[in-house]
Amino acid sequence: MKRILVMGAAGQIGSELVPALRAVYGVDSVVAADLCALSAMPDSLRVGPCEQIDILDIPKTVSVIKKYNIDTIYNLVALLSSVGETKPQLSWDINLGGLMNLLEISREHKLALFTPSSIGAFGPSTPPDNTPQDTIQRPTSMYGVTKVAGELLADYYHQKYGVDARGVRFPGIISNVTLPGGGTTDYAVQIYYDAIKKGSFVSNIGAGTYMDMMYMPDATRAAIEVMEADPAKLIHRNCFNVAAMSFDPEEIAASVKKAIPNFAMSYDVDEVRQAIANSWPNKMDDSAARDEWGWKHEYNLEKTTADMLSVLKQRYQ
Ligand code: SER
Repeated sequence: MKRILVMGAAGQIGSELVPALRAVYGVDSVVAADLCALSAMPDSLRVGPCEQIDILDIPKTVSVIKKYNIDTIYNLVALLSSVGETKPQLSWDINLGGLMNLLEISREHKLALFTPSSIGAFGPSTPPDNTPQDTIQRPTSMYGVTKVAGELLADYYHQKYGVDARGVRFPGIISNVTLPGGGTTDYAVQIYYDAIKKGSFVSNIGAGTYMDMMYMPDATRAAIEVMEADPAKLIHRNCFNVAAMSFDPEEIAASVKKAIPNFAMSYDVDEVRQAIANSWPNKMDDSAARDEWGWKHEYNLEKTTADMLSVLKQRYQ
């Protein structure tokens, strides 16, 4: 049975990955760690072990690993793409400095390490349609620079030191527990909240901008399954394209409108986010993940919209 430490547990992915991991491996086997004070941790995480850790604090991280006899780390700590453009140094320090610390700790203590990469690891010279697993990257956002460097570093630690480092390139993640912050794909979460609360939404991403997206239950399952995959079958390790759906603002608005006929969307495009979105793929080819470890998404746009609206309707109406 794994003994897992989740770094960045109170964020958008962590707040749902921790309960998903605890459902598989047991509540006491999954330690939720975040920069925030323990009192600020969501109640849903405080049903099991929790620790306050700054990813840049190596001695504290090591002491928690020893305290709980950890053998696997999920590293979800990152500044997202839009905020990264205003804080490049912090983005580098946290996204890459944090990963470097965890790779070194994993090497020394023989741990397995999951770190997500992203569609942000691609750039304007990447083929935008059916983006291959192995292709030109050259991102133009600071976030993307840290993600490509992270993919390479994790591969390096695997090849050179045998660290069991694995990861996926996540699309934009749609979820309803914790809001994302400072990302380019955030609009595809906010649209559901605003549809329920206000009946209308102002998109900061323009019509015709296609990006890969994934519903959280698929995302948490991908993170668990790639770490459970038979290593003998893995040709790639740290950056599997994983896809589920691709749409533009018009298509997600149309799917909301089917359930809420009076819903209306307008545009106020954010230049920074739009430039980032334009540099990312329209739709990734995830056949390597499907072939090497059996990845298969369950939620398309229709199913995602139905579930998001039903959860948020119950909560807010
Ligand atoms: N959701 C992230 C962002 O928009 C991409 O991985 O920054």
